[in-house]
Amino acid sequence: ATFSPLEVMTDAPVIPVIVLEDVEHAVPLARALVAGGIRMLEVTLRTPVALACMERIALEVPEAVTGAGTVRSAADAEAARRAGARFAVSPGYTSAVGRACRDLGLPLLPGVATGSEIMAAAEDGYTELKFFPAMQAGGLAMLKAWAGPFTDVRFCPTGGVTPLNAREFLALPNVVCVGGSWLCPVESVRSGDWSRITQLARDAATLRR
Ligand code: 3PG
Repeated sequence: ATFSPLEVMTDAPVIPVIVLEDVEHAVPLARALVAGGIRMLEVTLRTPVALACMERIALEVPEAVTGAGTVRSAADAEAARRAGARFAVSPGYTSAVGRACRDLGLPLLPGVATGSEIMAAAEDGYTELKFFPAMQAGGLAMLKAWAGPFTDVRFCPTGGVTPLNAREFLALPNVVCVGGSWLCPVESVRSGDWSRITQLARDAATLRR
């Protein structure tokens, strides 16, 4: 199945931001998240094994929907697509990335932090956006301010979102889901504590929207 950006955002209240250091961690981590009810997975292109991890998950965990995070160029988008990514998330927005993802049929959640960036993305047809870095760039107050002029735009705030503040973000009418790295603590991934990750996913999956 293919998903629209809005479907990627509405699948669960949280999109986990995943940093993988070892290809052997990819499949058990994806299974742990899926077992907790989270299947849209953002694997960031920040480590040398990221693409190989996406390939493994795409092959071995059919219940998961693997996306690529940290997509910064058309080349990143192409590499992610080849590795089996089914959506893309970028930390900022350029028309080149927007065009590449559209040409590849890759749903994109572009990252924005200002009104001008929202307008640039919307001009290119993108109205489901990642607000990044959410806490650092204005948090809840910024989203409330944007609700006035940008009534047709929906956000996934990411960056500084935690289990403690996620509910407040999710309660805003222009927020569909949040993103965060807290579901995949580095120490739990390194030690293979998959049951902890399933529990974190379960808690995240039941956060009220
Ligand atoms: C990232 O790109 O690293 C995400 O914004 C995750 O941020 P977090 O660690 O604050 O959740």
